[in-house]
This record gives sequence, C-alpha cells and structure tokens, in this order.
Amino acid sequence: MSKIHVQDLNLYYSSFHALKDVSMNIEACRITSMIGPSGCGKSTLLRVFNRMNDLIDGVRIEGEVLIDGKNIFGRDILLSELRKRIGMVFQRPNPFPISIFENVAYGPRVHGLAKSKDLEGLVERCLSAVELWEVLKDKLHHSALSLSGEQQQRLCIARLLAIEPDVLLMDEPCSALDPIATAKIEELCFQLKERYTIVIVTHNMQQAARISDDVGFMLLGELVEFGQTDKIFTNPVDQRTNDYISGRFG
Ligand SMILES: Nc1ncnc2c1ncn2[C@@H]1O[C@H](COP(=O)(O)OP(=O)(O)OP(=O)(O)O)[C@@H](O)[C@H]1O
Ligand SMILES: [Mg+2]
Repeated sequence: MSKIHVQDLNLYYSSFHALKDVSMNIEACRITSMIGPSGCGKSTLLRVFNRMNDLIDGVRIEGEVLIDGKNIFGRDILLSELRKRIGMVFQRPNPFPISIFENVAYGPRVHGLAKSKDLEGLVERCLSAVELWEVLKDKLHHSALSLSGEQQQRLCIARLLAIEPDVLLMDEPCSALDPIATAKIEELCFQLKERYTIVIVTHNMQQAARISDDVGFMLLGELVEFGQTDKIFTNPVDQRTNDYISGRFG
C-alpha cells in the first residue's frame, strides 16, 4: 500500500481549476520531489495532503486522497490529528519568537504528548535528529530568532518531529538558504527518509536530481509525468518534461 495514494484529484479555487485529474502514488520512506514552473500547483497539491486548503474560501476538491489507505476527506478524519501526522515545513523558516527549547516543546505540550519531566529528553532527541543538539545544548534558552536561517529551518523541522509526524511536506525549504546551508538540509533529508516520507517542492533541478527517489513534473495544474528520478531526468516520456528539465521552457 502506498503511503499517499492520489486518484483523479481536482481542485478549484472558486472557478479557477488549479489541479487537474492528478493521480499518483507516494511511497513511504522515500523522498518525492514536485517540480514545475511557478503557478503550476505544487504548493496547492502539498496543501491538499494535510488539508490546509480547507482554510481558503471557495476551495472545492474532487477525487480521492488516501493516506495509509484512509480517505483524508472522510467524515471520521480529525483535522488536528491529520495535521499532526502530516507536518509541513515552509519556504521561510518560521520559528516562534520564544526560546529554542520552547519551540520544540510547544507541540508536545499542546497535544499533551509528553509530561513535563519527559520534555527535556524529547527536546534532546528532536534536536539531535536535526543535528542541532551538540551546538545548541548550552543555548536552549536563547531566543530561536538568534539562530542562522539554516539553523532556524532545522529547528522548524525538529519542532515538527516533536509531534511525531510520519509525512514531512517541505515547500521550497531551501529557497531562502545559501548553497552550503542547502547542502546541509539536503543531508538531513537523507537521514530523515529512513523514518519519514518526505514530499518536497523545489525549483532547483539539481536539488531534485540529488535528493529525490521519485519526481513529479507539473504544468498548469496537470501532473505531466511521475516516476523514478533517474528516469525523469535522463529519459522522460513526455516532451514537456524534457523541455522543462533541459531548461527549454517558459
Ligand atoms: N488562495 C488562492 N486563491 C486563488 N487562486 C490561488 C490561490 N492559491 C493559489 N492560487 C492559484 O493556483 C495556481 C497554483 O498555485 P500554487 O501556489 O499551488 O503554485 P506553485 O506551483 O506552488 O507556484 P510557485 O512555484 O510560484 O510557488 C496559481 O495559478 C495560483 O495563482
Ligand atoms: Mg508554491
């Protein structure tokens, strides 16, 4: 069973048809990249998976999205539970303006996941998972805003891990970072995919080629092609994919 199964998904912003008959399977413990020109629907698709589009007026969705075999639009779905399991990292790191420790402890406190006495261990585990523990263990009570952009992005990922998600949605998580910081986040994604399913949106073709197992190419709301990374980048089936990856597009 696929981690995320998408079948004939259509999404409309009022009368604007933003996702058109999208069907794909995203597998567990792999990194799936979504690529395509600006406005093709990548963020919209990502937001479907944790139902963030529900917050936008006039959105209408048709089709099926199953996560772990369960329909995420079903009546029995608890949105808070879904969004806890399907976490999201954004383009600009958005740590809360509180301490490093409290950023990571925030989710578990809100969700009642850990007793106060367990929080310290949890914070240590999550910061270790993003390789921030050694550098920050003596600064846990400093403001999160004092960190570099790359560290802030790592902290935001640690904050997600603290609420025990199993899918990580990353919408251009490196676009505000320099190449060295980007490489570090990519390395982190590699480590995380052992335990998590990662779906990442990127405009950086090299990044998609480097880090992903599977790639989906979107154009004007349509999923033109989806497949294994080496296949998409070396031998795509669709001419439009070929044009895009070779830079002959738009
Ligand atoms: N809240 C909204 N209301 C109406 N239209 C929207 C809304 N959000 C996005 N759109 C439109 O839907 C289309 C897809 O947008 P989306 O943000 O998903 O694209 P994207 O592929 O993520 O682009 P980018 O690479 O620039 O981030 C665009 O035409 C956009 O203008
Ligand atoms: Mg986007």
